[in-house]
Amino acid sequence: MKPIVLSGIQPSGHMTIGNYIGAMRNWVAMQDDHDTLFSLVDLHAITVKQDPKDLRERCYDFVALYLACGIDPNKSTVFIQSHVHQHAELGWILNCYAYMGELNRMTQFKDKSGKQGKNINVGLFDYPVLMAADILLYGTDKVPVGQDQKQHLELARDIASRFNNQYNDEVFTVPEPFIPKQGARIMSLQEPTAKMSKSDSIEKNYVSLLDDPKKIIKKLKSAVTDSETEIRFDRENKPGVSNLLELMGGVTDRTVEEVLKDYEGVEGYGKLKIDTGEAIVALVEPIQQRFHEIRSDQSAMRDILKQGAEKASERAQDQLDKVKDTIGLIV
Ligand code: TYM
Repeated sequence: MKPIVLSGIQPSGHMTIGNYIGAMRNWVAMQDDHDTLFSLVDLHAITVKQDPKDLRERCYDFVALYLACGIDPNKSTVFIQSHVHQHAELGWILNCYAYMGELNRMTQFKDKSGKQGKNINVGLFDYPVLMAADILLYGTDKVPVGQDQKQHLELARDIASRFNNQYNDEVFTVPEPFIPKQGARIMSLQEPTAKMSKSDSIEKNYVSLLDDPKKIIKKLKSAVTDSETEIRFDRENKPGVSNLLELMGGVTDRTVEEVLKDYEGVEGYGKLKIDTGEAIVALVEPIQQRFHEIRSDQSAMRDILKQGAEKASERAQDQLDKVKDTIGLIV
């Protein structure tokens, strides 16, 4: 039996090179020796106000990107979260095992509620519980995510253990986060002390996987660095340069140490910026080509999603029945 892996991305904004390096490339690598499920978590996306037409298009775009990046529906179960109703159902049940206090401590909730002004909806607060349901429905062993999801993962683990302890039964598998040592937190290009975010309103801060190559080079050339000339990895004192090194390592599948060897004796950051831009372009060009092919056949995508949802739903229902039975609901 292969270890079970589940992860997901929210269809909001533009899928970035940060999502690719921090999450997606690890998903692709795990497909052969793990039992992998990858979901497009659309119910999470509606915690932010969405235009219905844009959201629908973006969901297809993101699924096409999953496939274009190398998620293979013959190896992995690919599905849309809202197509598998058990997620919302387990989400409700888990609400009754999660505490207001622990949700109040979630830094993502604090950040987002700070930014969202009036729309601090209950879904935004409850977001990590639905995420716990996503994970716990499949007996997930490992969850490949970037650094920003660590706290949510810890909550999922706490809820799972609390539930198991209360009923004195191993109903849920307690999941382990899988956070890469390098590239788990790709930073904004203009503000390298802040995370690169796909819903950033300032375009120069991120690289979208669908950006035009010329635009990518331009964005990298204008990336903020520092006033020195020495290329070295030092997140604290040289966040911009360190980010370029992590980006370069992430897209060329090398460690930062390996990347640094190419820059021994090089002064200034011009070459590193251009090389990194070109390396990103070399990665995304074939992805973009496959994306356009896949995206042009929406009915083939719908077939993949239907099959994925059927497979996921069958597994999810078994787990949900087990949970319901445990707590005394009539199954
Ligand atoms: P989301 O959609 O914000 O991000 C998707 C994945 O990309 C990672 N990531 C990054 N990695 C490195 N550098 C960055 N700058 C960067 N930005 C984002 C995220 O850590 C994530 O792995 N709550 C989740 C979605 C979710 C989920 C789940 C994930 C819902 N249910 C169940 C795993 C399992 C989120 O909003 O990710």
